[in-house]
Amino acid sequence: MSLMLPQQECDERSLQMIIDFVKRETGIDLGDAPRKNIERKLVRLMQELGYSSCRDLVDVLLDADEALLQHLIDALTVTESYFFREEVHFRVLSRQIMPKLLKRSKGSVRIWCAGCARGEEPYTLAMYLLEDGWILPSRDIRIYATDINRAALQVGRDGLYSERSLSFRNTPPYFLEKYFERPEDHLYRVRRLVRDLVEFSYLNLVDREAMGRMRDIDVIFCRNVLYYFNRYAKKQVVDSFHASLNPGGFLFISGMESLHKVPHDFEMKVLDQVTLYQKRV
Ligand SMILES: C[S@@+](CC[C@H](N)C(=O)[O-])C[C@H]1O[C@@H](n2cnc3c(N)ncnc32)[C@H](O)[C@@H]1O
Repeated sequence: MSLMLPQQECDERSLQMIIDFVKRETGIDLGDAPRKNIERKLVRLMQELGYSSCRDLVDVLLDADEALLQHLIDALTVTESYFFREEVHFRVLSRQIMPKLLKRSKGSVRIWCAGCARGEEPYTLAMYLLEDGWILPSRDIRIYATDINRAALQVGRDGLYSERSLSFRNTPPYFLEKYFERPEDHLYRVRRLVRDLVEFSYLNLVDREAMGRMRDIDVIFCRNVLYYFNRYAKKQVVDSFHASLNPGGFLFISGMESLHKVPHDFEMKVLDQVTLYQKRV
C-alpha cells in the first residue's frame, strides 16, 4: 500500500505574503515567476519541515523566525550555475585586466563573486588565474565568494560536485583533469590549491550594513543575480558595488543582463565584445 501525502496547496493570500516577504528580505522579485513553480517549492518545503499549510508558514515567518526565513531563501533562490559559464569574461579578466591591476596595486588584487551560488564561478576564476600564472607566493590575490543561500555556500566550501550535475556542462577536459580529483566514482572535487584561493561567506546583497563592510575591491562579478531583482533593489546593489570598488575597478554582469534602466555612476566599457562597467578614476 502506498502512503500518499494529502495534496497541499498554498492559498493566494499566503503565497502573496511570502512573495512580499522574500522581496523585502532579499530584493528577489518572484512576482513574474510562474505561481505553480513557487507553490511547488513551498509545498516541498512545508512537507520537509512538517507544516500543514502555507498559512502556518506565514504565521511563523511573521514571528521573525530566522531559521525558517533561511529555509525559505534556500528553497526559493535559483542557484543554477556551471563552471566556465560565459568563459570570455574570465579571459577578459585574466588577460586584459589582471596585468593592469597587478602593475597598479603592486601585487595585491581583490576579486569578489557576489551571488556565487555553489562556487562554480569563483572556482573557474581561480583556475583561470592559476593557469595564466598570476598566482605567486609574492602576490596577495584573493577571491571572495558570497551568497545568501547557505546550502549552496556549503557545496562551494566542500568543492564537491556530482559528475552528472549540470555544473560540468561546459568544462574543458583539460581543466577537469588538471584541477579536479575523484574522491569517489561519480564525484569530482576541486583540488585544494584551487579551493584555497576562494573564501566563501554569507552576504545578503540588499543588507546595506553588510555591504558597507565590502571595501577595497578591484573586480566584482555579479552575473545572473540582478536579473531576479526589482528595479529598486538593483539600483541599491549597483550603488553599493560602486562604493565597494577602488577607483578604476570593474563590475562584470552577465551578457543577458543590462544596467540600461538603472541609473549608475559607472563608465561603460567594451573589451573583446564584453560589456563591463568601470568606476571612474
Ligand atoms: C543563478 S545564480 C548565479 C550564479 C553565478 N553568479 C553564475 O552566474 O553562474 C544566482 C545566485 O544569486 C543568489 N542571490 C539571490 N539573491 C541574493 C541576495 N539578496 N544576496 C546574495 N545572493 C543572492 C542566489 O542565492 C543564487 O545563488
